[in-house]
Amino acid sequence: MIRSVVRAVGSALPRRIMKNSEFEATLDTSDEWIAQRTGIRQRHIAGPDETTASLGEAAARAALADGGLTPVDIDLIVLATSTPNNTFPATAVEIQHRLGMRHGFAFDLQAVCSGFVYAVATADSHIRNGLAKRALVIGAETFSRILDWNDRSTCVLFGDGAGALVLEAHDGEGSVADRGVLAASLRSDGTHKDKLYVDGGPSTTGTVGHLRMEGKEVFKHAVGMIADVIEGTFAQAGITADDLTWFVPHQANKRIINASAKKLGIADEKVVVTVDLHGNTSAASVPLALDVAVRDGRIRKGDLVLLEAMGGGFTWGAVLVRW
Ligand code: UT7
Repeated sequence: MIRSVVRAVGSALPRRIMKNSEFEATLDTSDEWIAQRTGIRQRHIAGPDETTASLGEAAARAALADGGLTPVDIDLIVLATSTPNNTFPATAVEIQHRLGMRHGFAFDLQAVCSGFVYAVATADSHIRNGLAKRALVIGAETFSRILDWNDRSTCVLFGDGAGALVLEAHDGEGSVADRGVLAASLRSDGTHKDKLYVDGGPSTTGTVGHLRMEGKEVFKHAVGMIADVIEGTFAQAGITADDLTWFVPHQANKRIINASAKKLGIADEKVVVTVDLHGNTSAASVPLALDVAVRDGRIRKGDLVLLEAMGGGFTWGAVLVRW
């Protein structure tokens, strides 16, 4: 059977780093509150010349370089983002153009913080169905552009950035020993819309809007939903938490990450945490964390890696990959 194998990984971050202490000048908050409640210490914030397309392109180029590839080798781009450069056309198509590609196809995928997990599962389906041979799967966001910078309950949490994987078709045996995407579980439930949403859009207000979140409510649902899809993924693959080499969760809050790992029986030393460095970068958080853990030598060929995310919608999902 065809398996979608990870060939390469890359990432890109805006130049400007914003430390927690910088909020203290304008908001009733503190480095201590932010770090204690979330694990976040800093985030990157895009400058005027940095956009979702430019960060996505830079992450894509880094992944291509990592794989010894050029844009000619790619026939599909899936970009997970909730902060596109324009309402349309898809920012993925702009990235395709920036890479000098006039072949293949590209589209955006909107599942907020779960976007990258959805995008990996979607690219994997296209590869296994024969629609594409080698895909760039990108998560790129500029959430700083949709934050209400006067709302301390949200603006301290998010950051900008991009990460990318190259997935390519390989023959597999059909067993859990194969390299590549082994299992995926995706969910959504619109009854929770009002807990995490943007209060604008092209068809309603005609404006971009600002992110609104009832953080406590999101937190309350997150751990159970995350555990559900992960258990579904384990059942599909016939594995348990002990078989995992690495757990790479969505980086929203260190307390959610710890509680999820504990509920699932995943040992602390298997958990990749980068929320301290990047904050919550929505669809970019999982590939940014993957890139860090590959670069520092933690994730290696043959490792069993579990990706997970949960976010606005609600949407949530998990993907199991043998690296
Ligand atoms: O990526 C999508 C998924 N999103 C998430 O996963 C976010 C999930 N939620 C969270 O991470 C947490 O709920 C937060 C970090 C947003 C908040 O943490 P919490 O422990 O749930 O705090 P809380 O909302 O219960 O607020 C506790 C107190 C409140 O004050 P009172 O009412 O107790 O007097 C807030 O007003 O902390 C206050 N507060 C702050 N204080 C200082 C809220 N934001 C801040 C702030 N600085 N930035």
